Amino acid sequence: MAIVETEKDGEIAVIRMNNPPVNALGHALRVGLEQAFAAANADAAIKAVVLTGTGKFFSAGADISEFKSAPQEPFLPQLIDKIESGSKPVIAALNGTALGGGLELALACHYRVASKDVRQLGLPEIKLGIIPGAGGTQRLPRAIGVEQALQLITSGSFIDAAKAAAAGLIDKLADRDLVSAAIAFAREQVGKPPPRLGEKKIDKASIPADLFAKARAASRRHPSGPLAAKAAIDAVEAASELGIAEGNIRERNLFRELAVSPYARALQYAFFAERQAANLPGIGSETKLRDVETVGILGAGTMGTGITLAFLNAGFPVTIVETTQEALDKGVARIKDTLSANAKRGRITAAQAADRFAKLTPSLAMADLGKADLIIEAVFENMALKKEVFGKLDKIAKAGAIIATNTSTLDVDEIAAETKRPQDVVGLHFFSPANIMRLLEIVRAEKTANDVMATSMAIAKRIGKVGVQAGVCDGFVGNRMLAAYGGEVQAMSLEGAMPQEIDGALEGWGMAMGPLAVSDLAGLDVGYRIRKERKLTGEAAQNARIPDRIVEMGRHGQKTGAGYYKYDENRKRIVDPEIEALIRAEAEALQIKQRQIPADEIVERSLLRLANEGAKILEEGIALRSSDIDTMYLNGYGFPAWRGGPMWQVDNVIGMKKAAERIKAYEARYGARWKIAPLLDKLAAAGSTFAALEAKHKT
Ligand code: CAA
Ligand code: NAI
Repeated sequence: MAIVETEKDGEIAVIRMNNPPVNALGHALRVGLEQAFAAANADAAIKAVVLTGTGKFFSAGADISEFKSAPQEPFLPQLIDKIESGSKPVIAALNGTALGGGLELALACHYRVASKDVRQLGLPEIKLGIIPGAGGTQRLPRAIGVEQALQLITSGSFIDAAKAAAAGLIDKLADRDLVSAAIAFAREQVGKPPPRLGEKKIDKASIPADLFAKARAASRRHPSGPLAAKAAIDAVEAASELGIAEGNIRERNLFRELAVSPYARALQYAFFAERQAANLPGIGSETKLRDVETVGILGAGTMGTGITLAFLNAGFPVTIVETTQEALDKGVARIKDTLSANAKRGRITAAQAADRFAKLTPSLAMADLGKADLIIEAVFENMALKKEVFGKLDKIAKAGAIIATNTSTLDVDEIAAETKRPQDVVGLHFFSPANIMRLLEIVRAEKTANDVMATSMAIAKRIGKVGVQAGVCDGFVGNRMLAAYGGEVQAMSLEGAMPQEIDGALEGWGMAMGPLAVSDLAGLDVGYRIRKERKLTGEAAQNARIPDRIVEMGRHGQKTGAGYYKYDENRKRIVDPEIEALIRAEAEALQIKQRQIPADEIVERSLLRLANEGAKILEEGIALRSSDIDTMYLNGYGFPAWRGGPMWQVDNVIGMKKAAERIKAYEARYGARWKIAPLLDKLAAAGSTFAALEAKHKT
């Protein structure tokens, strides 16, 4: 099938877009559409046009991969204006997802008929750091009202066909044969002057007086960064004040400013990086996936229950096994409470909550895991216990089952060696809370089979997670980098940066939460126990002094009401002079002269420690690509997507050469912990980037 095909049904032309996988409006499709519309308009026998897509997509919008190069004519806004201004009625037949430019195309059509199964309609451009650039900010408010349009455009969220019809975006819902329904609808419009959304005037009285001011106030710390949400609000406000032509010019100008911002580039990089992570070298689409329909979880603690919820929410039946009735009951109650809380908050219906809970089978018999296609172990972090458990699972699990460990620090090769089927063993490292955090680190052990990796990646997608491959080492990718960053944070504390200064600097830069506030949230006792087991020496022991003292004061973080900060009843942080005094006293005991550390130094040292460790991880082959590392940081560690990730920052903002210079300067000042990663040094000398390495990898 050609990229655009026209069929005639009497006096109706049906134009069909066919540009797999998502009908992105790339150059070839735009050319095809321009020609198809010109032909339909020139054909006197044609009285109306139906525009539709193929498969599950009407169109997912502009082709994002074209954003890097100069646009080629016909530009989408021109094409869209031509369709709207045409004299023959045009009916969009929405067969599936219509996003961004795809929805803008539908808005330029004179009517919209949608299949009632369509689930994704929206203008998600804000998630790419831009705003709709083909009239979306002007026509959507005219179609569904300013308030609702503003909400959709600034959040980038999707609505389904039923909601869209209720809002006035869809003129007719079709039950079965969408195109026939659209053709019948088109016949009714023949000879009538087509209504044009662009000609509609917005009634200013319908807009709540403080709508824009409130939206501007709420747009601070927007996930798209500092520019896009403000621009989106300006553009929608323009729609309420200007005619379509002037409004479109305003939108276009705002779009152009955003398109060249580093934030838009970072977000677009993040979009492709996330999808690239699913491509595992040497494992192609010919790899047959293992069937995974039933899941077994061992351990109903913090992680076991969170992982269970993640699978129940995706429709899987789950068997959860514990050692004692008490622990099992506690875990099951936690799962039930979370499902009911989600129903109460309106995230799911009460019926959905009940259905999901009904798919849970609690058990005290490990043998019950024998039916599961995938078993995930989430027992205490203890090698002897994990080995014992894997030895038993080897006897229980059915042939071909995937047996995964959720360990965050232990050697997956050693665990796998306890079984006679190490090829079936993989690390599935979820992040807490496992039902919410998007990252899933998929740890490939030495003997993990290709189809186990591919299946794990596919499962990540099925449960709404972002799967990223990691190799075996202490902390894998994410936590190993976190250890370097955390070490630097402690060093900065001893050097004089107070918790609120460290967290303030990093949150001001865009991190969801500063590292010390995160520690208070996660619980300081966990790290304390690990440090005691590891018997630290040297600089590591020095860096442990402040957090150890805090735990020894009985301050375990938010759960005890105090950690690095004190917390009020709303869990609001309160700076505590006692902790400031403790930090000063520890520095004095170590004879470290304290100073005020500026915010930009705090940010630079944090970022460079992350990226330097990332470079080592890359060189060791623990991570496949620098973009995988960034994907982990964006999805598991609260790193702002509009900053691209630590590796992207070095490539695009700091610069490799400057990063190497700064790291060497810090090494001269602070010694071994700042030793430059050989890879980073090499890339700096060659004037190269992490991304270039990735491109080489692909060829
Ligand atoms: N441009 C280019 N490629 C795109 C694309 C787009 N708009 N949308 C998806 N793709 C590609 C993906 O990169 C992926 O490619 P690979 O298979 O090579 O990795 C493939 O299409 C399938 O995508 P997903 O794996 O994401 O498939 P999915 O079914 O899980 O999700 C989707 C589909 C909801 C459409 C999701 O891909 C998505 O959200 N896409 C982005 C939509 C978007 O932001 N549109 C606005 C574009 S900007 C615009 O339109 C500006 C304007 O106003 C003119
Ligand atoms: P937890 O202490 O909350 O839960 C462990 C549960 O396992 C307990 O309920 C215990 O009764 C149960 N258990 C122990 N032995 C068992 C056995 N033989 N059979 C069945 N159940 C058994 O611990 P948590 O935090 O859930 O950690 C579990 C695993 O997940 C550990 O390996 C940990 O390193 C890892 N992890 C933890 C994260 C976290 O943030 N808590 C994050 C990522 C991984």
